[in-house]
Amino acid sequence: MSVQRIAVIGAGTMGGGIAIAVLLSGLAVELVDRPEVRERAQARIERYLDGLLSRGRLGAGDKPELLDRLTWRSGVDALSGPEMVIEAVSEDPAVKGEVLAGLPRDFGGLVGTNTSSLSVSALSRFAPDPHRFLGLHFFNPAERMALVEVVPGALTSEETLSAAAAFVRAIGKEPITAPDGPGFIVNRVARPIYLEALRLVGEGGATVEAVDRLVEGMAFPLGPFRLMDLIGIDVNLAVSESVYRQLMDQPRLRPHPLQRRMVDMGRLGRKSKLGFYRYE
Ligand code: NAI
Repeated sequence: MSVQRIAVIGAGTMGGGIAIAVLLSGLAVELVDRPEVRERAQARIERYLDGLLSRGRLGAGDKPELLDRLTWRSGVDALSGPEMVIEAVSEDPAVKGEVLAGLPRDFGGLVGTNTSSLSVSALSRFAPDPHRFLGLHFFNPAERMALVEVVPGALTSEETLSAAAAFVRAIGKEPITAPDGPGFIVNRVARPIYLEALRLVGEGGATVEAVDRLVEGMAFPLGPFRLMDLIGIDVNLAVSESVYRQLMDQPRLRPHPLQRRMVDMGRLGRKSKLGFYRYE
């Protein structure tokens, strides 16, 4: 199956970025999200294209042509027969389950979940066909990050895997297969880094700035606090909780109270203009 028309459900941090990557590769995308989210997401997409235009990476006529290939839909019922649906809604199994269960049962295309940590096999029971369902874990910002973890669930067919990998390459990214375990590869390996950094700061032993600067000095592009701000502290907390639960509450992976406190204060990172740092 060749994937030409894509629908993305959820136009937040990740869904918006995935839509940009799809548009830049010349394909069409239908975006589904709540009406109140649309304006912000559309503005973010246009801002990104304007940036490319000002750096000479897009021609004058490219922006309208790209935007022509973007269609907003009020719900999955309004989709016009895409070959692939990617869900990028909140990292909550109930929300994801409801979205997947809401897809038409006779949907004949592929369904990918952009979950960061939830079991693809467990989510597959909500999909129209578990054989045509898999994890497609993009990284933030999805419009720029090249890698995608491709995660087969227990029932994902070989045909689905190869079509999905071909789609990932077609949008200029590199698919890497990862096992369907808590946090796959990247979020499993990264979890102790975030948690140790939170513990250090929580114990009063170091500042947020010092941890970030030193970790960045070790050739990490972003320190753990700047990265949590970019990801969204709410999303990072949801992933921490999910990995912790799935690994049977191992104490070393227990989420830190500072994460919960930040979320309760509405300090979600860049998206709320205030997280561990302040953003204009
Ligand atoms: P977000 O909170 O920025 O966006 C989620 C969007 O889903 C919101 O716009 C919300 O309105 C929409 N939504 C919720 N329920 C919906 C429904 N029933 N129908 C349509 N839209 C609905 O979250 P973000 O950060 O984009 O995360 C989305 C997924 O991507 C999560 O599973 C997350 O774990 C994963 N992810 C996040 C990364 C990050 O750095 N933020 C990186 C990689 C994966």
